[in-house]
Amino acid sequence: MYKVAVVGATGAVGMQMVKVLEERGFPVEKLFLVASERSVGRKITFKGEEHEVVALKGFDFSAVDVALFSAGSSVSKEYAPKAADAGCVVVDNSSAFRMNDDVPLVVPEVNPQDVDWHRGIIANPNCSTIQMVVALNPLHRINRIKKIVVSTYQAVSGKGLKAMEELRVQSADVLSGKGVVPKEFPYQIAFNVLPHIDVFVEDGYTKEEMKMLNETRKIMGDHEIDVAATTVRVPVFVGHSESVWVKFEDEMSVDRVKEILMRAEGVVVVDEPSAERYPLAVDVAGRDEVFVGRIRRDLNDPSAVLMWVVADNLRKGAATNAVQIAELLVKRGKI
Ligand code: A2P
Repeated sequence: MYKVAVVGATGAVGMQMVKVLEERGFPVEKLFLVASERSVGRKITFKGEEHEVVALKGFDFSAVDVALFSAGSSVSKEYAPKAADAGCVVVDNSSAFRMNDDVPLVVPEVNPQDVDWHRGIIANPNCSTIQMVVALNPLHRINRIKKIVVSTYQAVSGKGLKAMEELRVQSADVLSGKGVVPKEFPYQIAFNVLPHIDVFVEDGYTKEEMKMLNETRKIMGDHEIDVAATTVRVPVFVGHSESVWVKFEDEMSVDRVKEILMRAEGVVVVDEPSAERYPLAVDVAGRDEVFVGRIRRDLNDPSAVLMWVVADNLRKGAATNAVQIAELLVKRGKI
């Protein structure tokens, strides 16, 4: 049994982490729910018992075996190294350490072996990247992927509870004819589509788009894969969708792609055009698998296919993946 801390336990992802730890029966001896001083004393239920939230400031990580962090990059940068130094293994959901050479970046269905070389911190990848690599890695292992062109349709919950509230309030305000004042998003998100997630970096890309390139290469262990991403925020509460075009080294039929994906770990194929069945954000919310549909060939290129990939960004894109990493640490004796 293990002493587990969830840092950011009152947040959109943190609350899911607590829920997923319970659902999956992670062997928790003692659970510490950690957040900012604002939340101290709040109560959160785990396995039928109420637990009080404690403050991160002054929290003693030496009493913890594994800590799941989801309180943003600046909190992770400050506290994750301290927690690791105190002997606790950190699974960090922020982008703070993902590209560090001494930090494994793990999606259990893709690169479970990478947990073995951790030095106290393991990074949980970006939500959009996780669902994409779960769907594409099984194909890549059979027919090497050369290039991916992806456009995302990302839910507001990826930006936290305040962002979810902003969509709810703004939607009501717009419908009742009131003006809107964007706070969490750069522009109105209700009834709108924003081609802008995270900050702009070089060459006109956003940081979110660069994460999809760099993290995909690191997780799949292939630094030649080309990923051209456009990441977009849509007025959906939970569930990221992605339109993916993928080019392989050799020709690959749609039937072969479907056959591989139907057998792939953590993937569910929902693809019946004749019955108008395909994956939808509202259907996958609450699920842990990655759903793939609309699989079809590029009509001008026999070595390229298109598909639609959808997953619950708070669960497989964040909390579930983090708990699966903790499970791997137990299974491989790395805690
Ligand atoms: P709190 O609720 O006390 O502010 P979300 O991603 O939904 O916005 O949630 C962010 C999570 O990170 C919350 O649990 C929040 O706690 C926590 N958090 C934010 N800033 C800090 C901080 N400086 N110290 C500890 N926890 C923090």
